[in-house]
Amino acid sequence: MPETHTPQAGDDRAADDDVVALLMRQHGDIRNLFDEVEQSRGEERREAFRRLVRLLAVHETAEEEVVHPFARRSLPGGEQVVEDRLAEERAATETLAALDELDTEDPKFMLQLMKLRKDVQEHARAEERYEFTHIRRSTDTDGLATLAKAVKAAEAMAPTRPHPGVESGAANVALGPVAALVDRTKDAVRTAMGKD
Ligand SMILES: [Fe+2]
Ligand SMILES: [Fe+2]
Repeated sequence: MPETHTPQAGDDRAADDDVVALLMRQHGDIRNLFDEVEQSRGEERREAFRRLVRLLAVHETAEEEVVHPFARRSLPGGEQVVEDRLAEERAATETLAALDELDTEDPKFMLQLMKLRKDVQEHARAEERYEFTHIRRSTDTDGLATLAKAVKAAEAMAPTRPHPGVESGAANVALGPVAALVDRTKDAVRTAMGKD
């Protein structure tokens, strides 16, 4: 049995030039982080939850800045597909905000986490089915690579595993709240796309 671990940015070379592979890997990372939060307690749970919040914020921001606008322009019926995904993302963001107010040891935390997990999972499945497969089918290698570059710039803002000295309390404080992370992610994405 191979050791199970949360994949980390950059450890899957195949995903580097294919935006769909990259986003699907992030969906997997998000699933694994939900597992980690559920299965841990105390400080470990708090820390795993911070990583989950960061990856979710960064992932959804990258999709909203890069992937959905592309799908809207390029896919037949893209307008409606994207509207539906944005509505799901807004609902998940609201649940996430409610959850972020709670301490991870709060009795209501797990209940809210389960609701968020369900919302996020259904949303990810809908993206994969109605958006990503069509993007891959209708986009050439260069197009997929250009989108991947921007999503990778976003991903660099959210390490999925703790790294000594990077994921320390000090680093979290320096990062500030989720809204600030979203702004920094937008800047990184826009710079990568060459329109800042
Ligand atoms: Fe999304
Ligand atoms: Fe997604």
